Formats: sequence, C-alpha cells, structure tokens
Amino acid sequence: MNQNTVNEIRSKIDIVELISEYVPLTKKGQYYWGICPFHNDKNPSMSVDEKRQTYTCWSCHNSGNVFNFVEQIENISFKEALKKLGDKVGIQLDGYSSTINTKYNKYYEIYDITSKYYQLMLNTDKGEKAKEYLKNRGIDNETIKEFGIGLALNDKDKLVKYLKEKKYDINTLNDLGLANNDIDTFINRIIFPLDDRSGRVVGFSGRIYDNSKMSKYMNTKETPIFRKGTCLYHYNSSKEYVRESKYVIVMEGFMDVIRASTIGVKNTIALMGTALTDEQISLIKKLSLNVYLCLDGDKPGQDADLHNGELLEKAGLNVKVVCLSDDEDPDSYILKYGEGKFKSLVMGAVNFSDFKINSLKTNVNFESDIELAKYVNNVIKEVSELKDEIRCEIILKKLANETNLSYNTLEKKLNEYKSLDEEGKKKSLDNLLKKKDAKKDKYIKASEEFIYYMLFNPKVIKVYDSKKLYFIDSNYRNLAAEISYYYHEYGDINIADFYTYLNDKKELLDVFNQIQALNMDEEISDVTIMEYVKVISDYSMRQEIKRLEEMMRKEPDELEKIKILEKIRKLRIGE
Ligand code: GTP
Ligand code: MN
Repeated sequence: MNQNTVNEIRSKIDIVELISEYVPLTKKGQYYWGICPFHNDKNPSMSVDEKRQTYTCWSCHNSGNVFNFVEQIENISFKEALKKLGDKVGIQLDGYSSTINTKYNKYYEIYDITSKYYQLMLNTDKGEKAKEYLKNRGIDNETIKEFGIGLALNDKDKLVKYLKEKKYDINTLNDLGLANNDIDTFINRIIFPLDDRSGRVVGFSGRIYDNSKMSKYMNTKETPIFRKGTCLYHYNSSKEYVRESKYVIVMEGFMDVIRASTIGVKNTIALMGTALTDEQISLIKKLSLNVYLCLDGDKPGQDADLHNGELLEKAGLNVKVVCLSDDEDPDSYILKYGEGKFKSLVMGAVNFSDFKINSLKTNVNFESDIELAKYVNNVIKEVSELKDEIRCEIILKKLANETNLSYNTLEKKLNEYKSLDEEGKKKSLDNLLKKKDAKKDKYIKASEEFIYYMLFNPKVIKVYDSKKLYFIDSNYRNLAAEISYYYHEYGDINIADFYTYLNDKKELLDVFNQIQALNMDEEISDVTIMEYVKVISDYSMRQEIKRLEEMMRKEPDELEKIKILEKIRKLRIGE
C-alpha cells in the first residue's frame, strides 16, 4: 500500500477545517471542541488537536485522523474516504486503488462475477421453476433486479467450471466458500447476495424452492471477507432511506426486507436469523440512533425484541417496537393487510420501555395473589429504571387502576427500589475497586505511559530497542513493535499518519486510541524511563514464569518438563 500518497492527502487537509464542515467547533485553550457526532453527546466532549491533526472524544473514546473521521461520519470504507479526500485536494487515486489489498480485491471480483452469473442463470430456461416460485411469492422482476436475486442451477459443478474457465484457481474458490472439492457449494437454490457495509458482495445465502428436505437457507461459510456477526442484510442500500426517515427498521429475514421494499419501505435491515452482536450494534449506531424493531410476532420474535431492545438501549440507541400479531412476520403481514396497514403499524410503534412493561403482563393470572404481587413488583422494578418522572407517574397510575392497589403503596415501593438500586451500584463499585490488582495496575500504567513516550520521544524508542523490552500483553507488545518499526522506516512518528498505518491492524487501534489520549508532556527524564522498564520487565517476567510453571504442571513428558524448568531458571537469573 502506497503510504506516501495517503500521507500526502492527509497532510493537505486540515482536520479543524474538515471537522468544522460537520460539527461546529470552538477553540478553548490548546484544542478545538465540539459535540461528538458518534454518540449521544450533550456537552462538547470531542477535542480536535490542530498540532497533531487528530480528534478524540473523551466520552465515547472515538478518535483518529481525517480519514477515520470521514469514514465514520459518512459511514464509508477507508478506501472511499481516501478517494473522497483525495478528490478534495486534487490527488487522483486511479490505478492506486488496485494496489490496496490486492488479495482481497480478487475476492471481491470473484464474488461480483459469481453474483452476476447467478442472476443470469435465473433468466435462462433452467430458471423457470425458480422464477415461478418467486412470482408466486409476489416478487416481480424489478425486485429481483433490485436485490440481485439469482439462481444456482441443479448441477454439481456449474459455477466451478465457469470460474475455472475464467482462470480462477480452485483453492481460492474453496477459500471463498464457493466450492468444496471441485463441487459447487450452492446447488439448486435461489441465491440472495449479501453485501458488506460499502455495498460489495461478500457472501451468499441460498434458499430451497422446491420440496427439498435440505435446510431452508444455507449461507456462505466465514471467509476473510465475510463474517456472519458483522453482516446485516440490506445495510448499505438502506443508508439513503434511513437518512431521510431518520430511523432504521430491523427485521428478522431477507423476505421481510424484500417485501417491505415492494411497498416502498426501504429503511430496513435484516438480522439473518442471528442474535445481535456488538459489531452489528455499532454498525446500526452508525446508520441511526433511532431503531424500530420489527421482528416476527410469535413468542421467539417477542423474546428477541426484548433481548435485542435491551442490548440496543444499553448501547445508547432509542428503541421502539413494532408489534405484529402472533403468527405474522412483516412479509406475511404486508401480503395480508397491505401497504397502508403496515405503514400505520410502524407509525404506531411503542417505546421499548412500554413494550417491556406490557410484556410483563402476558400470562399473569390476576386472580392469583402471588402472581399479581410478582407482576406489580416487576413493573415497579422497570419503572425505577426510567428517568422521566412524568412517565413513571403515568405508569404507576395505570398500574394502580389495573390492580386496585393504592397509588401511595406503589409509590412507596418505587422509592424503595430506587434506593436499593443506588446502594447496589455503590456496593458493586466497592467490590470492583477492592479486586483491582495493585501490581497489575502499576504494570498497565507503566506500559501505557512508556508506549505513549515512544510515540513522542525517539529516545524512548532507543531504550525499547536496546533493552529488547518484552510486554506480556500481546497488544502492548505488538503496538510497541509497530511503533519502533514505523520510526525506523519513516524516520519519525507522525501521530495522524500512524492512525492510517494501523488501519490494517484494527486490533491495535483500541489500545493506541487509549494511549495517545493520555495527553501527557512530551518530555521525560531518563530516570522515569528506567523505572518504567523495570516495572514492565519485572511484571512480564513474573507472569511468564507463572505461565511456564502452569505448563510444566500439565506436561506429562519428563524430558519436556526439564526443558521448561530450564527456561524458568534462565528467566529467574535474567538471561
Ligand atoms: P422465508 O421463509 O422465505 O419467508 O424466509 P424468511 O426470511 O422469512 O426466513 P425466516 O423468518 O424463517 O428466518 C429468518 C432468517 O433466518 C432468514 O432470513 C435466514 O437468514 C435465517 N434462516 C432461516 N432458516 C435458516 C436455515 O435453515 N439456515 C440458516 N443458515 N439460516 C436460516
Ligand atoms: Mn418468512
């Protein structure tokens, strides 16, 4: 990857100017400050450092250089951000783009060709039955095109032969989950292409369409470019519609999203039958802070509403729930009741907290004192979590009416829960503090500060090199190694460019974010450096010895045991 071109583009764009295009900034002291666009920020918590050309949010810990900022605020890939900013300063990236990640580019190319091939097959004579199936489900040609729906023929190696003819190597096809020992992965299935967040095809899902006994859907296996936990169906295509409507509708299946699209509801994504992952939640957050859950109406669907709603709310999103009747999913509901009814159902979505409280009522036998008391307690517990006092009062009044209990009794109980809550929080915090391991704390502090100074002071890099400093944590270890490497390669460390350099090493980005945000002086005394070195090596050595001793304990072979013992001895005498 041509780092120089990337750095040139970066250096031609002033981060203060760029961020000002999105967020008003005011200068206070050394930094510019603004409302952070990446979380629900009330006070300006994002600082922009003109000197280092970086930004940092002190609340949600988002940080980076101009590319990271544009990538996230526009919700585009690094490459797209690069192109956008390159255009801005008149640096063309033609030809350059193909030099980034050439291996992956080939993967994307194969997926693209495959997707087109499947689409073509649907329109041949052999695709008639599948076409008929889609037609019976009310999916017209326009929709087929919009979603790139295709067909894998009933033939064991059609695709493999086709791609081999195009000179793609069979090992690559295996790696990409398109083939298995020269046999096509997808046979006799209707194909739905799966896109990544910038709209490239990265996988497929195939559905049976005759009375075959196979599982209904089959997905591409996980590959270097496809991970199920990060995939959300229709994510990229929903972006412009979500921007317009200001909320995103989350559904369960492909067919729900596709059906909704036929009535012009396109601000939708589908979970593809999995539980929400953290990665998916942060992707959703980038789309919109307002989420409408519109899952199936059956019991599992409602349970998923509760579970997912909880996760999304915890992540700071505003959640509403669209409630379907028991045996409906959005697909069947729209078919049965039509566009108008579905749209008003969405308009009438209820707040997640109301949904939660309502769901407590299901199956409660109001004649049973025990069940009733349990129900009342559960509702009050939920209410005690609400911030809006007016809503608390409304719900309590309703509860009083419904159960014939006095408002005062309920309110007293509510206050009990509230104080319990606070005590509980305090207690768990106390425990947490007690448990913290002082030695480990010292080691973490020393490691982070040492690495911080490596970034800003070459003399610390020299110490790192000469002492061959070893960090027991792989993140610290790898980050320190990258910093040293970068310094020797480029002659100095530019923090903003270093962000770009870490782009391919996402696992280090979090530690780096944290460390660069320490924001200490850039000068450091030799004595302090040596103190850090001592703390880091002592702790790392002790942990390494512990690890080896554990290993030795489990080792059945006597000879191996002796080898490990020798290692431990060497460590002890500091060799
Ligand atoms: P239709 O049955 O065609 O209406 O599809 P649907 O999208 O409504 O599917 P459903 O509600 O049954 O399941 C929701 C999602 O779960 C689907 O879109 C798939 O992503 C996933 N899913 C369902 N069945 C299977 C299966 O057998 N295997 C796998 N891997 N995923 C499945
Ligand atoms: Mn369905």
